[in-house]
Amino acid sequence: MNILENKVALVTGATSGIGRATARRFVEEGAFVFITGRRSAELDAAVAALGPNARGIRGDVARPDDLDELYDRVREHGRGLDVLFANAGGGAFATLDQITPDQFDDTFAINVRGTVFTVQKALPLLNPGASIILAGSTAATSATPAFGVYAASKAAIRSFGRTWATELADRRIRVNVIVPGPTDTDGLRGLAPDAAQADGLVEQLGAGVPLGRVAHPDEIANAVLFLASDQSSYVTGSELFADGGEEQQ
Ligand SMILES: NC(=O)c1ccc[n+]([C@@H]2O[C@H](COP(=O)([O-])OP(=O)(O)OC[C@H]3O[C@@H](n4cnc5c(N)ncnc54)[C@H](OP(=O)(O)O)[C@@H]3O)[C@@H](O)[C@H]2O)c1
Repeated sequence: MNILENKVALVTGATSGIGRATARRFVEEGAFVFITGRRSAELDAAVAALGPNARGIRGDVARPDDLDELYDRVREHGRGLDVLFANAGGGAFATLDQITPDQFDDTFAINVRGTVFTVQKALPLLNPGASIILAGSTAATSATPAFGVYAASKAAIRSFGRTWATELADRRIRVNVIVPGPTDTDGLRGLAPDAAQADGLVEQLGAGVPLGRVAHPDEIANAVLFLASDQSSYVTGSELFADGGEEQQ
């Protein structure tokens, strides 16, 4: 199948993890894909692996000038955008007594402000019937000690998804939130202090999931693909949990 044939997509934060896996699935399904990330070498490698139907634009979603540059390049391409996956994000562990203003601001600048302006600045380029997917997290609805700032940032994303779905419905633009459970990515492993402890973290998180393991990034990418494609034409304002049942017990 080529369920994204003739579609143009943008995936922010696609130099690793869920974003990279999703960009690959989009290309496999026939889309032309713009990808972003802050690290040049990783971005070049990701574009090379994706082939001729991918273009990389380096940038930080927390910087409005970088977003303007990104959308200038998309505009030059001349075909608008059919799919926007606002995926760039991350977090760090800190208990309430450890949170610093800088850590709070960094997390919200990327996960919340970055998502808001990634979507806002895309508005003139979005084609009728476009699909926007926001990166949520099971952390938004669970109580994970030391993950409060990240969890709150993802709760904000869930809220924005509902509002924007109603605001954009008259343009037939759908907005949904993908809610990954623990997924084996550099981002997840980076929460541990070293590689050995990262294995332990992955094992421990997997044990808390009914399916008994963490997700492979491709499994999240497939759920995002559903939301991106016309297969989900009557789905908007919703959240799709790809969490192995973690939040459903
Ligand atoms: N893995 C999980 O268990 C899990 C679970 C639930 C939700 N999520 C969410 O899923 C999304 C992807 O996570 P992941 O696990 O795939 O993380 P990852 O492996 O760390 O990948 C994050 C990607 O985002 C990019 N990025 C980070 N900050 C950025 C910024 N300011 N501007 C532009 N790009 C930025 C990174 O590239 P550069 O470093 O090159 O900028 C990288 O490509 C995040 O929103 C995360 O919160 C992940």
